[in-house]
Amino acid sequence: MHTISQYQDFFISYLKNQNIHKEPENLYEPIEYILGLGGKRMRPVLTLMAAEVFDANYKIALPAAMAVEVFHNFSLVHDDIMDDAPLRRGEITVHEKWNINTGILSGDAMLILAYQYFEQYEPNVFVALAKLFSKTALEVCEGQQWDVDFETRKDVTIPEYLKMIEYKTAVLVAAAMKMGAIVANTTEKEADLIYDFGLNLGLAFQLQDDYLDAFGDPETFGKQVGGDIIENKKTYLYLKALEFADLNDKQRLLELFESEIEDNSVKIEQAKTIFIASGADKITQEAIEEYTLKAFSTLDKMNIDNDKKEILRSFGQNLMQRNA
Ligand code: IPE
Ligand code: IPE
Ligand code: MG
Ligand code: MG
Ligand code: MG
Repeated sequence: MHTISQYQDFFISYLKNQNIHKEPENLYEPIEYILGLGGKRMRPVLTLMAAEVFDANYKIALPAAMAVEVFHNFSLVHDDIMDDAPLRRGEITVHEKWNINTGILSGDAMLILAYQYFEQYEPNVFVALAKLFSKTALEVCEGQQWDVDFETRKDVTIPEYLKMIEYKTAVLVAAAMKMGAIVANTTEKEADLIYDFGLNLGLAFQLQDDYLDAFGDPETFGKQVGGDIIENKKTYLYLKALEFADLNDKQRLLELFESEIEDNSVKIEQAKTIFIASGADKITQEAIEEYTLKAFSTLDKMNIDNDKKEILRSFGQNLMQRNA
């Protein structure tokens, strides 16, 4: 096994060797742009790690890792259109730098490019990867649709929210890990366990993303802080605030998320004050920890060396401490 930062380096040098630049310029330049903006590279790192957890060399997992990262970046380009987001990884979003049509088509092309990376595997592995990927990609679309549907609903429940984040975010983290297991040719049992580990880690990850969207540091977060509040997103913070705020605050929060508020900074300030006063901020942090621990408990069931479990655990610990 290697360290997390080594896996990042392996992946980035592989990415840099890909020849993405082609014509037409306006299709491929945005793809190079978004892939070049960086980000944490968490999903491809998980694919490479999972391959080595199951005793394969990370190198055979590189095309699968690339497929996952390209798909992830496709989903971000379309997500930023849907969320009307101005900033991504500290830079201007694709649809604002170019335009919405460019964001749509470059995104579509990335989805296809992602699939092409599976062609590098022999037929059995190809089929297993493509099947998992198709299922996952469709679930991501379903999760994204729920996320948008919830913007205009007032009665979203916590179970509905959890399903939504499972689909829009956690399944891809889980699939990233299972792909490492597939290329390593491990048993179905172990592949399913690492999927479960990734799923719970992914749930913790999206809860943390919601938390940082409200309470992150604009200097490090890389996205517009308060973006979820502007868009009336039914995040865990919001749902728990509605549950635990006093009557006045609850009323105010409902109003804030119902009407078109002219001054976004006032809306963000007031919503955050209620998130804190109701204790929703603390409750969200507890949930992040709970799902991370749930992920760790899956590791106990796995038939792998303790030092490997330790690396996966420290990856989860680091995720909880992140600020971007
Ligand atoms: C952002 O994912 C989208 C979510 C699922 C929350 P990341 O936070 O992994 O984004 P990058 O790739 O590091 O920028
Ligand atoms: C992202 O959810 C899920 C996908 C991109 C599929 P968010 O909308 O919360 O992601 P960010 O916060 O914009 O990265
Ligand atoms: Mg978004
Ligand atoms: Mg979104
Ligand atoms: Mg978010």
